[in-house]
Amino acid sequence: MIKLENIVKEYVLSKDNSIVALNNVSLEIEEGEFVAIVGKSGSGKSTLLNIMSCLDKEIKGKYILDGIDISKKKSKELAKIRNKYFGFIFQNFNLLQKLTAYENIEIPLIYKRVPRRNRKKLIEEYAKKVGIDQRLKHKPNELSGGQQQRVAIARALVTNPKIIMADEPTGALDEATGIQIMNLLEELNKEGKTVLLITHDMDLAKRAKRKIVISDGKIISDTKVGEK
Ligand SMILES: Nc1ncnc2c1ncn2[C@@H]1O[C@H](COP(=O)(O)OP(=O)(O)O)[C@@H](O)[C@H]1O
Ligand SMILES: [Mg+2]
Repeated sequence: MIKLENIVKEYVLSKDNSIVALNNVSLEIEEGEFVAIVGKSGSGKSTLLNIMSCLDKEIKGKYILDGIDISKKKSKELAKIRNKYFGFIFQNFNLLQKLTAYENIEIPLIYKRVPRRNRKKLIEEYAKKVGIDQRLKHKPNELSGGQQQRVAIARALVTNPKIIMADEPTGALDEATGIQIMNLLEELNKEGKTVLLITHDMDLAKRAKRKIVISDGKIISDTKVGEK
């Protein structure tokens, strides 16, 4: 599904000052995997996620996503690929504060030009799936952190993407709520979604089926955990 070959990412800050955020990273991820990418702050996790999700194509190396050579695509095509393949979950939920939970989940469907009636059906279905169906009229500031993250997960799922990208999804939640969100990700993976979880929390990473450790822009270990 995801195939990175010798990816180098350099942030050029000025003429004689640049940071190599990823240093020759090669990586393959198959459909249906549950991968945790762990590493200290600044190790290159988010940079890697941005590249995998086709946000950043200013890179050296080759990226093949589901057989598509990403390096050869124009920005407009990349935006489409991105919407088709990925659903995103972030540490701070990234919900629009002025919109209700329902309207937040609706956004990607509007982008996709799904008719209103079908949108309603999908929103209700996914809200139910993540256990937020009783809160759809609420705005983010009327919801707890865990509830907001559930709304964000419904928003990520509603277009039925193949891959869920979660960048520190439990970072702003208390431990018990974080575990519930992890349970939800695990369940989605069992149903066949590819899940990429970025975290600096080793305990959370243990629940994935594969753990990739990144340090100073390099993969320093990549281990598969037996089926649990
Ligand atoms: N937009 C940027 N411009 C310049 N340097 C950046 C930028 N984004 C990240 N970096 C640098 O690249 C390195 C990796 O960052 P990042 O991928 O955000 O790490 P992580 O997500 O693991 O904390 C860090 O040294 C960071 O300071
Ligand atoms: Mg990060």
